[in-house]
Amino acid sequence: MSKENPILGPVRGTKDLFGNELALHQYIIDRAKKVSENSFFKEFQPPIFEYSDVFYRNLGETSDIVTKETYTFNDRDKRMITLRPEFTASIARGIFSNSLQQTLPQRLFSYGPLFRHERPQKCRLRQFHQLNFEIIGADSWATDVEVVMIAEQLLQDLELKGHYRLELNSLGCQTSRVLYREALIEYFNKYYNELSADSQARLHKNPLRVLDSKDEGDKKIVQNCPQMYDHLTLEARQRFDNIREHLTKCGVEFTYNPRIVRGLDYYTHTVFEFITDSLGAQGTIGGGGRYDNLYKEVAGVDIPSIGFAFGIERIAEMLRVMEKNLPQASLVGIFPITEAATSYALTILQELRRAQINCYADWQGKMGKRLKKADQNNVEIAIIFGDTEISQGQVQLKHMQTGQERLVAASDLIQELKNSINHG
Ligand code: HAM
Repeated sequence: MSKENPILGPVRGTKDLFGNELALHQYIIDRAKKVSENSFFKEFQPPIFEYSDVFYRNLGETSDIVTKETYTFNDRDKRMITLRPEFTASIARGIFSNSLQQTLPQRLFSYGPLFRHERPQKCRLRQFHQLNFEIIGADSWATDVEVVMIAEQLLQDLELKGHYRLELNSLGCQTSRVLYREALIEYFNKYYNELSADSQARLHKNPLRVLDSKDEGDKKIVQNCPQMYDHLTLEARQRFDNIREHLTKCGVEFTYNPRIVRGLDYYTHTVFEFITDSLGAQGTIGGGGRYDNLYKEVAGVDIPSIGFAFGIERIAEMLRVMEKNLPQASLVGIFPITEAATSYALTILQELRRAQINCYADWQGKMGKRLKKADQNNVEIAIIFGDTEISQGQVQLKHMQTGQERLVAASDLIQELKNSINHG
């Protein structure tokens, strides 16, 4: 980046998407769309900014997002606006804006950019992208099992099996949380002076977040703290046991991790994260859980819900490290040799593109160089012709990989190409 001219560099923590990385993003989104159709989700795309209250009221006062990570500003009408840091709260707002609460459950799939003012590092950006799935208005424990299976299905469709692990926990119901909260406060109070400043601040607001602390000193204290599972009500415990039993029954591998609390305050009961070792520090590729109280806080109505989100950048990086080959759309190239052939080539180009054949054209330069460039651009078949071929009503087809050449009648060209290009 030029220091003299800041316009030449992107804002810290943001980047341009193009080439292979963009292709990976699109591939991941395509797979997610298939999974969403396959499991009966409908696409829902909220705006990328909202009135700040949507997030400030919904995400909980101790969530990192609210305390330090939002891009918030006053617009020209002096309304406080926030660039969305996640989808879940926007969707909660969208449910009511569009009266969708009248037809529950709603199964909604979203994807797109989000904004968090975090300290940028590899796979942690200030503008990043998520795939987000929510089932709004579904209470059954079976929905929790289903949602985890859908999340896992997506990773399997992306051929990531064996490269991640699933960790699961239960945060219980409101009563379980009150009981656990008291136990945690009592325990951490004994070590109050040894806790980090962040954890001291969180202790009375949301002691669960202390479990999530990255501070080494805090981690040692957390090691022997009371366990959530021991404070779950009988009902919450049975629910969690049932979910675990059925995940196992359905062939979903997971480990129970009592330390998973998630960075957002709205979760209840089931919470889960998908973690990989192949990305270094930012190993959480996705996560989610049940949030039964969010809608009560927003609109005073009981709408138990559950969902999850994956970070597209993180999945893309996993695929890049694995050198995943993306399916290529087939491409043919047109290479007229003479000026007269160029005139004819334009009419062929028009016909081929109208016939939905992807066409590359290079009008000038030495044929050797043109073909080399075409090869770099993944052209599969080159259509080459000069005045002689035109006079005979023919064109030459060259298969770029094998080097094989053959003459075909110009009138059969479209059919010939359709028969021989790779339809992958
Ligand atoms: P989250 O854990 O905050 O959950 O984010 C989900 C995923 O987004 C993370 O696991 C990570 O892959 C990706 N991610 C988060 N922050 C960044 C960043 N700064 N740079 C790159 N990737 C990032 C949620 O957002 C919840 N709304 C998920 C949910 C949906 N829960 C219920 N429904």
